[in-house]
Amino acid sequence: MSADSSADWTPESWRAKPALQQPEYPDAAALAAALDELRRLPPLVTSWEVNALKRELAEAQEGRRFVLQGGDCAESFADCEPDHIAGRLKILLQMSLVLVHGLKRRVVRIGRFAGQYAKPRSSDTETRAGVTLPSYRGDLVNAPEFTPAARAPDPWRLLEGHKRSALTLNFVRGLIDGGFADLHHPEYWNLAWVQHSPQAAEYQRRVAAIGESLRFFETLAGQTLADLTRVEFYTGHEALLLCAEAAQTRQVPRQSGWWNLATHFPWIGMRTAQLEGAHVEYMRGIRNPIGIKIGPQMTPDWLLALCEVLNPDDEPGRLCLIHRMGAAQVESHLPPLLEAVRRAGRRVLWVCDPMHGNTRTVGNGYKTRAFSDISRELEASFAVHAACGTRLGGVHLELTAEDVTECLGGARDLGEQDLARAYRSTVDPRLNYEQALELALKIAAMG
Ligand code: PEP
Ligand code: CO
Repeated sequence: MSADSSADWTPESWRAKPALQQPEYPDAAALAAALDELRRLPPLVTSWEVNALKRELAEAQEGRRFVLQGGDCAESFADCEPDHIAGRLKILLQMSLVLVHGLKRRVVRIGRFAGQYAKPRSSDTETRAGVTLPSYRGDLVNAPEFTPAARAPDPWRLLEGHKRSALTLNFVRGLIDGGFADLHHPEYWNLAWVQHSPQAAEYQRRVAAIGESLRFFETLAGQTLADLTRVEFYTGHEALLLCAEAAQTRQVPRQSGWWNLATHFPWIGMRTAQLEGAHVEYMRGIRNPIGIKIGPQMTPDWLLALCEVLNPDDEPGRLCLIHRMGAAQVESHLPPLLEAVRRAGRRVLWVCDPMHGNTRTVGNGYKTRAFSDISRELEASFAVHAACGTRLGGVHLELTAEDVTECLGGARDLGEQDLARAYRSTVDPRLNYEQALELALKIAAMG
């Protein structure tokens, strides 16, 4: 029996299970009204786009594509503006060009955007100077300022999040349909400071090599390779706030089953992957390709049970396992999981998130990650997969096109004293533009 046809599943059946990381809305009537409105609004994506992504992920499972997923840890409503959106698109396009060239595989591009507005927190409340308020859970729920008004979960934010996701996606689609992603014009993606980057020469060398190959093939073919004038861009976010995800879960004409039409690729965060939990219950019933974040606490039995519940028919392209062990633990914790899934004959796509297992707080209080740890976890992951006879099919990164100072190291060797200069993330530290491009160059050499 396939997941969507199970008689006991509905978009709301998760409500009977324990749901972690959900806010408590003070005004139930206002929440119900906002969810009603959300159910009536047009969806953000279509089922045929979701199905197209699933087919591409199935190809990645077979080693014919590589997945690049990236974006902010948490989007903010304030960042829904053109420069920010175009900048993020530019860095992801530059990185994917480097990966295509180095790995000799087509790249599936998935943003962490147009809906990455809700965050899991380690505690439900935060106390400062004797005052306790609800934790900030992302702009979809409340505001970061430490006041009772800002921290009260506000259902209006569900509609505002939908609107800003739509505005983001509309601009991304417009840019891409207008030729922004045309491989014949990689200069469109140049960011102002690209020429000053320590990696500029290496990047430009690859761009020139690709341009030369393109011209060669087009001369042979006697025509422009139309496929290269646009690329597909998909969206993904953590499906955390279940009332909002369920309100955007729909049936479509002439197909059976239910789709989450708020995003192409929802994933289950590490903190909400309990087998008997509400998030797994919700995700098992939708037709989208889905991800599960896997941390060091994951066991082979738990993982195999998740595979069974979430992909009972072993459907190609459905399940993406995103491991985030940390550089220190990947070599010890990943092999038993890879072995178990391989021995069970399960079809999955393995992706590495080298960010979330490498977060630490340094002496001056900043939450940071070292570029060397990130790079080391990736390198070790490729090696561990090779040793187990499995394949690393993608990466999941937190990055920005801005010149921030949130992660340590990289070619400019940012130190702890540099963090204060341009630390802008409200949640996790992101690779800046140069570090992201440097990492893409490294991955291109690893794969
Ligand atoms: C995240 O992706 O921002 C996140 C919270 O990850 P994880 O669930 O892996 O901790
Ligand atoms: Co994060």
